[in-house]
Amino acid sequence: MRTLLLTLALSSACATPALAGAGPQRNFLNNCAGCHQMDGSGAPKAGIPDMRGVVGHFLRLPEGRNFLVQVPGTANSPLGHAETAALLNWMVRAYSPGQVPADFQPFTTAEVAQLRQQPVHDVPGTRASIVQRLQGLGLAIE
Ligand code: HEC
Repeated sequence: MRTLLLTLALSSACATPALAGAGPQRNFLNNCAGCHQMDGSGAPKAGIPDMRGVVGHFLRLPEGRNFLVQVPGTANSPLGHAETAALLNWMVRAYSPGQVPADFQPFTTAEVAQLRQQPVHDVPGTRASIVQRLQGLGLAIE
């Protein structure tokens, strides 16, 4: 009976196009939203950046793009590389659609796997230098 219910639940989920983003969204809820909040607002006073209208800017620079994978919350989550790539592709569009560059190439599984092997040691310093370069491009980011 349990198996039947599960099968029904899964098949109805797959049949509903509106739930296409359910995987990444659910993964964000379970692995990220505890700190970042489901609306991406974070807790800036506690050092958790507000992603809304901002996080897409990072995609303008290779080191900014890499940072979204290498930041500890992403790199150290229990999610697999493919799930993480899908999560990031969903996340930038969900929280920062207006800032995602038109020529954005989605994160790939191989890219995520490689970057996770190269942790960033000075997270605030790395972010500060990326933000400075983005501001140099005239983008509004703090
Ligand atoms: C335990 C709390 C916590 C969890 C869980 C967490 N993060 Fe974070 N996240 C932070 C903090 C704090 C920062 C600020 C940089 C730092 O100190 O790591 C951050 C920064 C980020 C940034 C960079 C944003 C910016 O503007 O610099 C991204 C992207 C990010 N997190 C993604 C994720 C994703 C994706 C997940 C889930 C897979 C996740 N985080 C889980 C706390 C968390």
